Amino acid sequence: MSPQSPSSQLSGTQLVHGDHGPGSEVAPSISVTTTFRAVPHRDLEGFGTLNSDQHIYSRYSQNVTSRVEQILSKINQGHAITYASGLAAAFSALVHFKPKRIAISGGYMGCHGTISTYMKGKSDDTPIISLEDEFQEGDLCWLESPLNPTGESRDIKYYADKIHAVGGKLLVDSTFGPPPLQYPFKWGADCIFHSGTKYFGGHSDLLCGIIIVRTEAERMQLWHDRVYMGNMMGSLESWLLLRSLRTMHLRIPRQSASGTEIAQWLSRAIVPQGQEYDGIPGGVVTKVWHSSLQETDANGFNPAAQMEGGFNACFSILLSKKEYAEKLPHSLEYFVSATSLGGVESLAEQRIQADPKENPLLVRLSVGVEEVADLKDDLRRALVEISRGN
Ligand SMILES: Cc1ncc(COP(=O)(O)O)c(C=O)c1O
Repeated sequence: MSPQSPSSQLSGTQLVHGDHGPGSEVAPSISVTTTFRAVPHRDLEGFGTLNSDQHIYSRYSQNVTSRVEQILSKINQGHAITYASGLAAAFSALVHFKPKRIAISGGYMGCHGTISTYMKGKSDDTPIISLEDEFQEGDLCWLESPLNPTGESRDIKYYADKIHAVGGKLLVDSTFGPPPLQYPFKWGADCIFHSGTKYFGGHSDLLCGIIIVRTEAERMQLWHDRVYMGNMMGSLESWLLLRSLRTMHLRIPRQSASGTEIAQWLSRAIVPQGQEYDGIPGGVVTKVWHSSLQETDANGFNPAAQMEGGFNACFSILLSKKEYAEKLPHSLEYFVSATSLGGVESLAEQRIQADPKENPLLVRLSVGVEEVADLKDDLRRALVEISRGN
């Protein structure tokens, strides 16, 4: 299995200088204007394109959002457009692709909700099929990798080949694998989708969705739809996102390395009751899911090659008792008991609190940028505490 283009790194230079801003400001002003002073005889050639610096009304474009989209395009080697949230972007992708059928299995429940909402607005039926079903022309393969909540990877190239063989399209929800962890275009994706709320924003303070396509012509179609759906990211959110992008190359590799270390450490604590590993009592953790712990599958898929820049920082563990899973997030000090992921602060969640269909024994951990030794101490202490019934 070989990627289609040479390996790339997330460039700090592009993140810091990849947008061009007018004037003398080092950091852009927070502009909340919705409307822009018109100039006489305005030439609208190229309006709405990535490099346009003309603005009319903020539902079309505004300065900071355009700067953000320039950087997102460069670091993803494609043409990026932003939205008010991940699910706003998901809805726009459905409107854009107009699939005859949608192949989707598991993953974030919110995307399934968006598909149901999209269906409500249609007079004809769009059947949902599984990723393992036969694909047909006109299908959209909606592939999430790594998966929410487990953090296991799926083979992007396998599904790209399968859907392209019949003339369908592949969208990859790469929220758990932001740059530099993986680049789905290399493995054949037609469209990359991110909840930018997570690792791009990185500070638990903005909602954003990102779609990256291969050509500017396709991005312009999405831009046109965004103008009329009105699902533009807010001005303040754009500003927060631009600020966050400046440090993305520092945050993501660190979160990835810490998340991988903690997942592997916890997997070694799957020992019988009465034994212990590194101070963690046996019989409490019964399973750990993480891309780095996946065995090469029957098709030869190895997540390490796909995740060229490091494994995911968000993953799940299974505990032996429901009460352990209920208590763990609230027994931790540095992992905040909260939903969402990708921020600088580590989070822990009994996932059934967000998704009623989830296993009540499952706890999802999102690893932030704290010291890994402190996070391990926190987990060790909390696991001891809950196992003693405290
Ligand atoms: C994998 C995945 N896709 C999409 C979304 C939706 O993103 P947002 O909450 O920004 O709408 C999420 C949110 O948790 C997610 O985890």
